[in-house]
Amino acid sequence: MIIDGKKEAAILREEIKNEIANLKKKTNKVPGLTVILIGEFAPSQIYVRNKEKNSKEVGINSNVIKYPSDVSEEEVLNKIEELNKDKNISGILVQLPLPDQINKEKVINAIDPLKDVDGFNPVNVGNLASGYKAIVPCTPLGCLLLIKKVEKNLSGKHAVIIGRSNLNGKPMAQLLLKENCTVTIVHSKTKNLQNECLKADILVAAVGVPNLVKKDWVKNDAVVIDVGINKVDNKIIGDVNFEEIKDKVRAVTPVPGGVGPMTIACLLSNTLECFKAR
Ligand code: GUN
Repeated sequence: MIIDGKKEAAILREEIKNEIANLKKKTNKVPGLTVILIGEFAPSQIYVRNKEKNSKEVGINSNVIKYPSDVSEEEVLNKIEELNKDKNISGILVQLPLPDQINKEKVINAIDPLKDVDGFNPVNVGNLASGYKAIVPCTPLGCLLLIKKVEKNLSGKHAVIIGRSNLNGKPMAQLLLKENCTVTIVHSKTKNLQNECLKADILVAAVGVPNLVKKDWVKNDAVVIDVGINKVDNKIIGDVNFEEIKDKVRAVTPVPGGVGPMTIACLLSNTLECFKAR
């Protein structure tokens, strides 16, 4: 089975759009999302354009603040401070990666945890790890929603996550732990990656190595989620060799059209939740 992320994301966006329309009728207010984009990194330009377009389509008041790549850290931190205080802004997102002169940790720490739609601020990271209410990073949240479309009861399932990043691997592990999975994180220093992956009922690949996961790395009944976005010969491919495994496993997400659209839909959902919480 191929998991249709495009379709699932469209359903989620429709729900968000309806809820925003209802809230607007009641309060005459809509959620506001401000994205800070620094420099000319081409993939970031595309991601931010998609985030803005999708936000507007569901009724979020979206705004992008662009800075040249040589902007000072102080200027960015001052802008975040201003946005933290602005009552019309529900969510703040600073698109990564950042240029060298800007300290990522300082920027992430500066965002009000209640407006941190990425869920990257250590307050949200800590709350998620502690099992408390938290804003959850969009990509792992989208992955979990897709997994739940094919696997209703995750309790006791063995989940293997390839990659240990703060953006994907670590929060994905926390979410799957919360669902009572047995969770293994594997990474570049793991011995015998293939053997570990072969144990997976749920396999999430979020490592940025094109076609890493092959047919003899997966069980027949595995659910495979491909977070990878790799450009090879001008084509976007994932971390999973989709053609090799699609007829073997129980379910797999394609790239593109799998996790990507869900990530953006979850950003809209996080923005709506931040608006409602305030
Ligand atoms: N760059 C790549 N993915 C992301 C993301 O999810 N959030 C932010 N802020 N930057 C990114």
